[in-house]
Amino acid sequence: MTTVIDRLSQARQLIGNDRTDIPTPALILDLPKVERNLAEMARRMAPLPARLRPHAKIHKSPALGRMQLDAGAIGLTTATVWEAAVMADAGLDNLLIANQVVGPVKAAELARIAGLATVTAAVDSAASVAELSAAASQAGTEIGVIVEVDVGLHRSGVRSAGAAVALGRQATDAPGLAMRGLLGYEGHCMLEPDRALRIEKARASNAILVGAADDFAAAGLCTDIVAGGGLGTWDITGANPRITELHAGSYIFSDAFHRNLVPGFEPALTVLATIISQSGATAVLDCGRKAIGIDRTPPEVVGGAGSVRFEHNEYFIHEEHIVLDLPSVSALAVGDRVELMPGYSPTTVNFYDVYFVARDGVIIDVWPVCARYGSATVGVGPAAP
Ligand SMILES: Cc1ncc(COP(=O)(O)O)c(C=O)c1O
Repeated sequence: MTTVIDRLSQARQLIGNDRTDIPTPALILDLPKVERNLAEMARRMAPLPARLRPHAKIHKSPALGRMQLDAGAIGLTTATVWEAAVMADAGLDNLLIANQVVGPVKAAELARIAGLATVTAAVDSAASVAELSAAASQAGTEIGVIVEVDVGLHRSGVRSAGAAVALGRQATDAPGLAMRGLLGYEGHCMLEPDRALRIEKARASNAILVGAADDFAAAGLCTDIVAGGGLGTWDITGANPRITELHAGSYIFSDAFHRNLVPGFEPALTVLATIISQSGATAVLDCGRKAIGIDRTPPEVVGGAGSVRFEHNEYFIHEEHIVLDLPSVSALAVGDRVELMPGYSPTTVNFYDVYFVARDGVIIDVWPVCARYGSATVGVGPAAP
């Protein structure tokens, strides 16, 4: 049986190949573009009051997390305890899970990694506070918590400042927990293409979070962390003097969706595909919705060598195929390679075991994608390369 470790070592045999000369579909990470995106975000954040704690769900890679810390991030945000665990096991510190960690196995894993790193998780219920408190007490570690407040997304989060204070008091008094502050993620604003409307909506959301922080402070509760934000609101939430940290993450790769939302970051992640069939102006790729994230925006062919066909009111993207319209004059033929910029990078990454890391057109390394659902790497924590 081939294991994830076997696949990693098989992939490593392709180091030195041209970036277009590996079996497809494959995930290619253009390292110089990532380096420039990290520098660009550090430059943009420098004058703002909020510090950057980038969301690592976008890449699921301790190696890339390390690069973000080296570029000045105060720590990393994750979506799952498993992502936080691979970061902690790789020696990275100051981890924040911007999500509820619920269930005995996950709570125990959170308590374990709290013995390796400073770890903070979001809570929004008394049951969750009690479960994390019991897990930390059992493990003899201290889990940091922040109370999540619903600031308009209507996903997780307590629904009022009063409920936040009540939960904050409970968490402050709970053994094994360290109360650290508040989270209010304005995710509904990220999708707003109208910049003026996005600013208006984000400011309204930020005001709900800051209001809860005021009530926290008045009640004598800790407000060391007042967190929110994503790439779409980086310069709105990040400019609020009361918000201590920003959780933007998609700047690291960008993609067809984020490139239009927040220009200035280079699309650093591509999926390499092969043309497996071609007739006239129609080309078919060996890459479909099981190999590339298409949330919100379709993939784009890098260099404009074709475009994803749109017919019958939808993009022609099947599980294992994408159909392209080729320009009237095209040299592309069966066997040729094309690179696609994903519509959405975070879901694209989750399809793959490894990144093929490229510099100057050559594969220079292979890095694991960690903590994918259903993957053997969940909870195992391979070391950063
Ligand atoms: C809780 C939370 N914080 C922050 C983000 C920011 O991510 P991005 O940089 O992709 O906007 C997300 C994205 O879904 C999120 O769910």
